[in-house]
Amino acid sequence: GNKIRNAKLVLLGDVGTGKSSLVLRFVKGQFVEFQESTIGAAFFSQTLAVNDETVKFEIWDTAGQERYHSLAPMYYRGAAAAVIVYDMTNAASFARAKKWVQELQSQGSPNTIMALAGNKADRLEDREISAEEAQTYAQENGLFFMETSAKTAINVNDMFYEIAKRLIRV
Ligand code: GTP
Ligand code: MG
Repeated sequence: GNKIRNAKLVLLGDVGTGKSSLVLRFVKGQFVEFQESTIGAAFFSQTLAVNDETVKFEIWDTAGQERYHSLAPMYYRGAAAAVIVYDMTNAASFARAKKWVQELQSQGSPNTIMALAGNKADRLEDREISAEEAQTYAQENGLFFMETSAKTAINVNDMFYEIAKRLIRV
């Protein structure tokens, strides 16, 4: 039979890393150059079929601005999955991503599946964080890692599909 599984998913990461753009790409297949900075958080849903199951993602796209930091636990608590996003052309955003991982490890739910997304992979010439560095960090901390581009769509659906596959395994 076709089971529907609801899965709360949260995106966390520094301002401007492309959280909203990744969601817009995944949910609507669109990209905008002048995406507005998120205020508070935004909600979206999208379903994905994996084998004979359907995963219905309930997506919380959080705001990266520091003044909204205190809201984050509302969104990551009880989340089945968390996508921590950094901008691969911005080393400070990678440092911020590590802080989010630490916070999730200490305050989040132990079973949350964590993905690390190195976004803006279309801007290779501006790269500040190597794939090797991020992959090593991800492995050491139990995340799975992908470089993505909301602009060109590289690895965006694949990342959500990989999360869905891991969700139906548990
Ligand atoms: P906050 O809501 O402020 O936390 O930011 P955010 O993480 O949601 O970032 P947002 O999606 O608003 O994107 C910020 C800027 O980066 C926008 O101008 C996007 O067009 C741009 N952007 C997002 N993803 C990509 C990408 O994959 N490649 C390129 N080149 N630009 C991107
Ligand atoms: Mg946003």
